[in-house]
Amino acid sequence: MNNTKIQLFVFLSMMYLSVIYCSGDQSRHRLYQQSDEAIATISNQLVSQAIELVDSVVEDLLVLDSKNPIILGYLDRFDAFTAVNETKTEEKLNAFYDVVEDYLDSDTKGDPVELSSIESQLISLCLERNGFDRWKRTVQTRTTQLNRVIYRKLKRHMDTLDNEDRLAVERRWKRTLSRGGPPRLEKLRDFVQWLGKFTD
Ligand SMILES: *[C@@H]1O[C@H](CO)[C@@H](O)[C@H](O)[C@H]1NC(C)=O
Repeated sequence: MNNTKIQLFVFLSMMYLSVIYCSGDQSRHRLYQQSDEAIATISNQLVSQAIELVDSVVEDLLVLDSKNPIILGYLDRFDAFTAVNETKTEEKLNAFYDVVEDYLDSDTKGDPVELSSIESQLISLCLERNGFDRWKRTVQTRTTQLNRVIYRKLKRHMDTLDNEDRLAVERRWKRTLSRGGPPRLEKLRDFVQWLGKFTD
């Protein structure tokens, strides 16, 4: 090849690569935006349900008019939830997880429920009576759906990446599937935020 041909070859290769990378960036950005929006929608729905639930549970517990320190302590935890502004969806949801974390089962949280005391059984009863099961079902169904949708799009996106980047994304994705630690929806949120910042 003469010089001009080499230059042309290099130029075209660079164009080709930049097209690949550009479309990779764009597809990742689109995936980030769509997932971020989906998570926000789900979180909003969960927060509205949680607010209703907490209102009724607090009413129930107040009706008991208990002087029991554990019950009173539990009411304080609800105060912490109520104090968070509901426009701050993520904080509000995390505050709810703090209140109910002892009552979440393995599908939602990764740890088994252990209700030893009479008080915790009573609180659990109050939660169930006011639709906690519905809330848990919503989290599980929506998180599972979201997980599936994100993964399907992620696989397609990973085909556009080079080996090293694909491995990085795969490794990071695996963390969302691990048991224990934060709730699954939070793990997905972390992953999506990470994906939004990830650059080639
Ligand atoms: C919640 O935050 C919004 C926006 O920052 C504010 O307008 C509203 O007054 C706040 N609500 C409460 C109850 O503090």
